[in-house]
Amino acid sequence: MAQLWGGRFTKETDKLVYQFNASISFDQRFFHQDIEGSIAHVVMLEKQGILTEQEKDDIVKGLTGIREDVDNGVLQITEEYEDIHSFVEANLINRIGEAGKKLHTGRSRNDQVALDMRLYTRQEIVHTEELLKELLNTLLAMMEEHIDTYMPGFTHLQKAQPVTLAHHLGAYFEMFKRDLLRMQDIYKRMNFCPLGAGALAGTTYPLDRGYTASLLGFEGPTLNSMDSVSDRDYLIEYLAVAATIMMHLSRFSEEIIIWNSNEYRFVEIDDAYSTGSSIMPQKKNPDIAELVRGKTGRVYGALMSLLTTMKGIPLAYNKDMQEDKELTFDAIDTVKGCLALFEGMLKTMKFRKDVMAKSAMNGFTNATDAADYLVNRGVPFRDAHSIIGKLVLYCIDKGCSIDELSLDELKNICPVFEQDVYDAISLKTCVEKRLTVGAPGQESMRKVIGLNKSFLGKLSI
Ligand code: ARG
Repeated sequence: MAQLWGGRFTKETDKLVYQFNASISFDQRFFHQDIEGSIAHVVMLEKQGILTEQEKDDIVKGLTGIREDVDNGVLQITEEYEDIHSFVEANLINRIGEAGKKLHTGRSRNDQVALDMRLYTRQEIVHTEELLKELLNTLLAMMEEHIDTYMPGFTHLQKAQPVTLAHHLGAYFEMFKRDLLRMQDIYKRMNFCPLGAGALAGTTYPLDRGYTASLLGFEGPTLNSMDSVSDRDYLIEYLAVAATIMMHLSRFSEEIIIWNSNEYRFVEIDDAYSTGSSIMPQKKNPDIAELVRGKTGRVYGALMSLLTTMKGIPLAYNKDMQEDKELTFDAIDTVKGCLALFEGMLKTMKFRKDVMAKSAMNGFTNATDAADYLVNRGVPFRDAHSIIGKLVLYCIDKGCSIDELSLDELKNICPVFEQDVYDAISLKTCVEKRLTVGAPGQESMRKVIGLNKSFLGKLSI
């Protein structure tokens, strides 16, 4: 058991207590960030005359040596240390002797861990943004390809009005675009450096916190030392956005599962992204989509868990906060994994255009357009609605669609109908006449695709 704080104690820590308290099994994840933060700290200490140049050089050399040895597998991070900070410091002292004992000057593990977690999360925000961008690129390419792939649009999971696949995918494009913007927003708000906050009340050393912040690529130092060591808002924000991404992925997965079902047959998920059954030889199951849908619960759980952990903690640091790590790491892995897999599944999926178009033609998806036809010929909308309602009933009885009725049959129900009604309620017209901003008509879709293309082009990730 290697601890940094033995001096005041006369008894060994109980073994179970030690294990309960230790965090090295999971905080080794930000080993690189811990080294990076320590290097910036000692460079600043030397600039401020708190360390000599020799001491700084020895420490930096020691730290980079430790990093190299761990990366090359020469040095193992083992559980005999309480946390990653203890591991690094103990190894540094081992390696360079007395100078190593000066590393922790003007620093506490409280601001150190606040820094490490922030550096780690900051990098993961960027990774999540990259994956979102990839998904958006894929969606946009598919939208261009399927600008005239007709399909039914649903409300209440009942056929409503015809749309295009481009339009349906475009809805998800907007959702993931907002998620990406949310991520960028969190980054801006969290990109301040807590190092130098000490345990809670700053330090008496003349630290240059702005300098450390700039060395580590932060916008500047955080402005209240108590807040600096006890703020986990940015993690809650990350988890909230991660939960929203998962919610979007889950809705999309649900649709793909429905579309892939024997009843719908709109899509076929690629063999590489499906699994079979151990008993039923005919089966090809959409497990990936189901797992993405299922894993959404884990990420929601992480958000709820951290919110609950934080709700009763008095200022400033309390050990409860160590609980922020495992759940955040798990959520990061989950959301990143799901984004990558989902994108792969989407890219390789086959769309059965004929089945989709046929489905769009059934189910009276042109009923609104038939009513609009009458309105354009002077019938008040409410009356038109009721006339088409009757027409639909008649068709259900006959087992056909509106456009399969003869002109005589149509005129029988309403004499306003003329030959041009067939064109007015054809699938193509129903879609292509919808040209308001955000509607599925090709012309309007092309504008939106153009706008989104330039959005993606301007992204700096
Ligand atoms: N492992 C701790 C954490 O994750 C590091 C900070 C320890 N600070 C302390 N005062 N015990 O929060």
